[in-house]
Amino acid sequence: MKKHLFRQGRHLLAALLFAFSPGLSQAQGGSITADAPQGDGICPLSALDLTKITCFDDAGKTKVRANLTTLGNPIVLRDTTYTCGVGTHAPSKAVVAVNGATRFTARLGVDDEASSAANHGIVDYTVSVFSNRQETVVMTGRVNRTDGFTIPVDVDLTGADYLVLNLENAGQAWADQVSWANAVFHYAGEAPATVLESDMYRDGSKVQDIPEAEEGLENIPLSSLEIGKATCGWGTIKADRSIDGNAIILRDTTYTSGVGTHAPSQIIVKLNGSVTRFVTRVGVDDEVLPQAQGNANYGNCNYRVSLKAENGDVRVAAEGTIKATDRTTPLIDIDVNGWKYLILEAENGVGGNSYDHVDWAGAYLVFEDQNSTRPIIVSAEELSSKLASPVTVFSQPGVRFMHKLRAANPEAEVSVSDLPEGLVWNAARQLVEGKVEQEGVYRYVAYTTFEGETSKDTVTFTVSSRLEHPVPFMGWLSWNAVQSEVSEAIVKQVADLFEEKGLYECGWNTVMMDDWWHADQRAADGKPQPNPTRFPGGVKAVADYVHAKGMKFGLYTDAAGRTCAGAFGSYGYEDIDARQYAEWGVDVVKCDYCNAPGDVETAKTRYKALGDAFKRSGRNILLYICEWGVREPWKWGAEVGGACWRVSQDVRDCWIGRGSGVGVVQSIAAMKDLAAWQGVNRFNDADMLCTGLHGTGKSSNDLCLTGPGMTMDEYRTQFALWCLWSSPMALSFDPRRPLSDEDLAIISNKEMIALNQDKMGQQADFLFEENNIQVYAKDLENGDVAIAAVNLSDADADFTFDFGRIPALDAQATYTCRDVWAQAACADVKGSLPTRVRSHATQVFRLSRKGSASGIASPLSAEGFKVKAAGGKVTVTCPGTEGLAKRIIVSDMDGRVVAARTAAGERVNVSLSAPRGAYAVSVVCGAQATSRKVLF
Ligand code: GLA
Repeated sequence: MKKHLFRQGRHLLAALLFAFSPGLSQAQGGSITADAPQGDGICPLSALDLTKITCFDDAGKTKVRANLTTLGNPIVLRDTTYTCGVGTHAPSKAVVAVNGATRFTARLGVDDEASSAANHGIVDYTVSVFSNRQETVVMTGRVNRTDGFTIPVDVDLTGADYLVLNLENAGQAWADQVSWANAVFHYAGEAPATVLESDMYRDGSKVQDIPEAEEGLENIPLSSLEIGKATCGWGTIKADRSIDGNAIILRDTTYTSGVGTHAPSQIIVKLNGSVTRFVTRVGVDDEVLPQAQGNANYGNCNYRVSLKAENGDVRVAAEGTIKATDRTTPLIDIDVNGWKYLILEAENGVGGNSYDHVDWAGAYLVFEDQNSTRPIIVSAEELSSKLASPVTVFSQPGVRFMHKLRAANPEAEVSVSDLPEGLVWNAARQLVEGKVEQEGVYRYVAYTTFEGETSKDTVTFTVSSRLEHPVPFMGWLSWNAVQSEVSEAIVKQVADLFEEKGLYECGWNTVMMDDWWHADQRAADGKPQPNPTRFPGGVKAVADYVHAKGMKFGLYTDAAGRTCAGAFGSYGYEDIDARQYAEWGVDVVKCDYCNAPGDVETAKTRYKALGDAFKRSGRNILLYICEWGVREPWKWGAEVGGACWRVSQDVRDCWIGRGSGVGVVQSIAAMKDLAAWQGVNRFNDADMLCTGLHGTGKSSNDLCLTGPGMTMDEYRTQFALWCLWSSPMALSFDPRRPLSDEDLAIISNKEMIALNQDKMGQQADFLFEENNIQVYAKDLENGDVAIAAVNLSDADADFTFDFGRIPALDAQATYTCRDVWAQAACADVKGSLPTRVRSHATQVFRLSRKGSASGIASPLSAEGFKVKAAGGKVTVTCPGTEGLAKRIIVSDMDGRVVAARTAAGERVNVSLSAPRGAYAVSVVCGAQATSRKVLF
């Protein structure tokens, strides 16, 4: 629920920015001035450490300020200027350790500088004191920019430990600028001090660190491992913090290290042979003491520590009951020598799960041999024999197919049976590959075996020349730069630009409207309708315009009552919407998931309802699932009728995002381990590309740690990765701003695009990372392999690809080589390939095995290459290639193969029986691929 509000909040940012426009934020200058009390024994709140006070941060514009408003103007409340005080923007929280102070006084109000428009400047406040961990709310209420008064605050602090000043947005987060004017403490002795909320009641006198390791050993804190792989019954498991994000405190002792969980939780450590001992305390965190003292069922749990051997034997090393109100917490110190897994479990005890905040406090593993494999945390799934690859896969007739079969547990054995003719099992690489010529739905069986347990999965393999999404779409989406300005004019402008700049020729052929194309509400008959001002001719006219250029048209909806920006969604209107979209001529529908229930089953049901409605609509409409990867849609998206799905939160125009912001670094984290799930008609989508934005976007500029905007090398890396991954590609620049030649060069690089559009639809495997360089390899339809080195470090680096570490390559073979960025040949390579990669840049090479059916010595000249279509056939002429094997593929503008042929002549005829229209003819010859559009 919280998260939900947060997502909505993000979209209010645009509105917020408006509220902060200069005209509205100028200090008004009060006619009266009110000074704060001064002198000995008076301590202004503004003199304390304000960095400990939290505050809504609008890209650095709003922050907590001493003696000024959050925007940096004099504090003026209802025409009275206050020379002293603290300016904030809700949500904001101040926690002050009272330290014996006796009284706190202030005036509270929304600053005069805030906008008084509807829904702006409305804040709920709570002033409370904590004594012995018990909260007493002193005053609470609502302040409003339109109030004619301010609130006097006068708090008796006698006997209190902490004073907490809390401000929350009441409804919307717009212009919630609030000041604690003339805020002062009356004290004698030690002055009060602000503290982080997480440090409240932290008893500094009893701190427990992890002990120094003995000579030759290392004490590895449990919290330093990848705890995200553990399960947790509520909230997010935390390193060195309790589940609520506070310091880990058990019975007044603060543990500087440990793991905070909520029962039921399970942490599985794979010991990897060199861990000898495990030490921890376990207990229910003191943070729930006040509640547990009031209700014996609260904070009442069971714990178990067990060991599992290689052969599956299990020994329970410690177990028992723990309660928040226990006087002591069990110390566990066990010998784990020779065991393969250590399993830490916490279960809800008597009375359900309320306040079951279980800490593994001061937990560490004694690691003996520093040269051996370190312990890691693995997911419960990784201990099973489950298949971690898709069971619904697709290909086109006569097109090479690949299906990587992975088990959740990397040690499990994988095998297959019942492969249809044309496919073989490549045991060394654990993948099914080959070519099936006949259309049809085939089935084969995948087996995964671990510790004597076998899982059997039937794979459904559809071979069809009518797939919805044979190669990833290449288009444009309005969100990043245009947001609420999306209009008929803008959509047309993008289509024109695609044509004029030669982008259509490169494959960019889908123009999509994101959120906010909508009217305020549906038509009286329930049908969706566009904003009448921005779409004066209606949606169909726009779609027709786009279609007339041979391009496709897409729009956006949400699988709930409301979209993320608050427009009407499609939940409950699936058929009405699908019929209307079909009538308008919509080809792609991006279906968002704001305002919908969080569980995966509901998500599947809602997307399936949309997918089914699209199928009933009579038009081929591609269902583009956008639930941000939260429910792992790669595991069910194809099964509910989706043909691509987002894997992350929204991409931002920066290298590193902060918070939930996704910079290139976070896109990599979201995509890099999903290669086995990628394939034709089932694409993992890494979200919009930022080429051409240069920090001019809207929400794409938020949540950036390094930006907004990226260096050209960073934009190039983003583009290269999307191409290597076979991610659908949606540009998101503002068509009203010029695209630079450098930007155009990125998105017009046909050899890079050819990797994205490769008909085998494989995502490059992430192979390893060394010295901040990541190495990827992508299998291509003609047998070529693209390899890439991504330099994540801040320095340029030399790097040598070692073919012995790239399973798709043969270290003994010689390859011809193309530098894909340069679109130029490089020298033949064998065994290794040295290169230099600039900081944050990516080098990509396409390698073609010499002497193989597709390999040739001399490059194919794109200039000399001619294509003619007439008389039921396409004739391709490639001068200078006589005797060299080449593969010719003719596909429609969606990437559906309509004819293919391998031949060696300089001139090759491919007969074609296909309807009139535009087709792409590609020739793959050695390490080169080139393509042309023809009208047939
Ligand atoms: C969500 C999606 C974005 C965009 C916006 C529109 O945040 O993830 O891609 O569609 O909604 O409101």
